[in-house]
Amino acid sequence: MLTVGEALKLPEPNPRGLRVGIVGAGLMGHALAAIFASSGSTVTICDSDERTLASANERIHATLRGAGLDQKAANSIQLVSDLNDLGPECNFVTEAVSENLPLKQDLLHRLERQLPKALFATNTSVLCVGKIAAQMDAPDRLLGTHWWNPPYLIPLVEVVQGPATRPEYVRWAISLLKTLGKSPVHVKKDTPGFIGNRLQHALWREAFALIEEGVCDAATVDFVARNTLGLKLGVLGPIENADYVGLDLTLAIHEHVFPALSVATQPQTVLRRAVAASKLGAKSGEGLLSWAPGAREKVAANLNEHLANQTRKPLQ
Ligand SMILES: NC(=O)c1ccc[n+]([C@@H]2O[C@H](COP(=O)([O-])OP(=O)(O)OC[C@H]3O[C@@H](n4cnc5c(N)ncnc54)[C@H](O)[C@@H]3O)[C@@H](O)[C@H]2O)c1
Repeated sequence: MLTVGEALKLPEPNPRGLRVGIVGAGLMGHALAAIFASSGSTVTICDSDERTLASANERIHATLRGAGLDQKAANSIQLVSDLNDLGPECNFVTEAVSENLPLKQDLLHRLERQLPKALFATNTSVLCVGKIAAQMDAPDRLLGTHWWNPPYLIPLVEVVQGPATRPEYVRWAISLLKTLGKSPVHVKKDTPGFIGNRLQHALWREAFALIEEGVCDAATVDFVARNTLGLKLGVLGPIENADYVGLDLTLAIHEHVFPALSVATQPQTVLRRAVAASKLGAKSGEGLLSWAPGAREKVAANLNEHLANQTRKPLQ
């Protein structure tokens, strides 16, 4: 057991030889297990849901196959349903359980007592690392590694420094991710949604506002987004774009358009109504758009093909 204030003795930040634990074998967790195992780590993955666990090996095989990686790695991954079976030798544990703050808080508190040598990472999409660490005896042992889905295709990982996270652990995680061939960025302040999801959900808020105000329908919002800014974003980020068109023009545009933009601080009515009516999107056959049978699979296949083409080039 570490004494309060004592630092972990972490191994070299190299996946080879690392003992990795993944908690949660769902969409993200199984893919993270595949990534670490195919890079030479000894991986144990834990999920409390027997059905999820039963399908994990097959899903890991499929992910490795889809990513063009050696499927043998899947056979080296140990699958467990009991958290106690994550061995005390674990050096690096990523939690990828459901996005539920009390669940993550309890889990981390339990794990820190059980695993004295491990650095912990949360894969939360939007929750603050400091909040997840709130019940830990040593909150300095938690940082965020926000992988994007699908993590084997999207190289960027946001490494989030919580208010208590030790800076040397952040540096270690960044080095590890680079060795894994990823492109980590350091999120220096623990803000909900970090960088990518703050940008993404600012856009989604505006998309819902356009529908609510009757400016256009849902399909038109997406058509315009895909065929205007969507065409440019891969090569021209918003700041570079502002510089490119000129900051004087950007200022003039903002003076005119900001008063019209949504400042909603709560989820919008169009979204709340759809959820209340069980219109949950692709998984229920209807959301703000309608989803015919097979449409969800088609979108997933299109997305994966597009991402694979885009990420063959170095990040810009
Ligand atoms: N889905 C995405 O696109 C995406 C992208 C980036 C980050 N994330 C984040 O990653 C995390 C996981 O997301 P997901 O999409 O993989 O979810 P998911 O629902 O596919 O998987 C979560 C898994 O956690 C398991 N679980 C719940 N409580 C557990 C416990 N106490 N012990 C062990 N296992 C437990 C569940 O059985 C489930 O299999 C979330 O925090 C999510 O916000 C998701």
